Amino acid sequence: LDNALKLLREVPDFPRPGVVFRDLTPVLADPDALRAVVDGLQDKIDPDTQVVAAIESRGFLLGAPLGYGWRYGVVPLRKPGKLPAVAHRVSYDLEYGTAELELPADAILPGQRVVIVDDVLATGGTAEAACTLVERAGAIVTGISVVLEITALDGRARLAGRNVSALLAV
Ligand code: PRP
Ligand code: HPA
Repeated sequence: LDNALKLLREVPDFPRPGVVFRDLTPVLADPDALRAVVDGLQDKIDPDTQVVAAIESRGFLLGAPLGYGWRYGVVPLRKPGKLPAVAHRVSYDLEYGTAELELPADAILPGQRVVIVDDVLATGGTAEAACTLVERAGAIVTGISVVLEITALDGRARLAGRNVSALLAV
């Protein structure tokens, strides 16, 4: 896993000048690193978890192999206007402006135990919205699993009381 995470790339000035973007593309493109990262996420998922909810779009790349490999299934939490049938929609604040995330209809049942999966935890706004969606469906969030946590943005504080796991913190 350590070797896998060494493939992480830092791209200066993306998406805006002054921002260093942590890019997992080279990790996911490497066959051994992809396996190490997906297995590493699975190792930290609460064993009572029944369903994976994956956040658009890079979370899909991790949620799908987890959902297949360990038979959770995978539910996409999507940006607005993509889903044909929507159960719930949540708006959340970004640094500039707002964003929305939607939960598909008939995908998560009340009482189900759901893990939220994404590539990166930054401010935590997206993960918090994902938790709200899952809970609006009457389901239970067992944890938030990410590959990379950007600690300076303090997403963990926003997700206080939740079970947050990251394979790497920078
Ligand atoms: C990134 C990342 C997380 C989110 C983290 O996605 O994949 O989903 O931002 O940021 P936050 O913790 O501050 O909310 P992005 O919105 O860039 O979408 P993409 O995966 O479709 O590129
Ligand atoms: N990398 C990937 N996703 C992100 C980042 C980053 O550095 N910051 C916020 N979302």
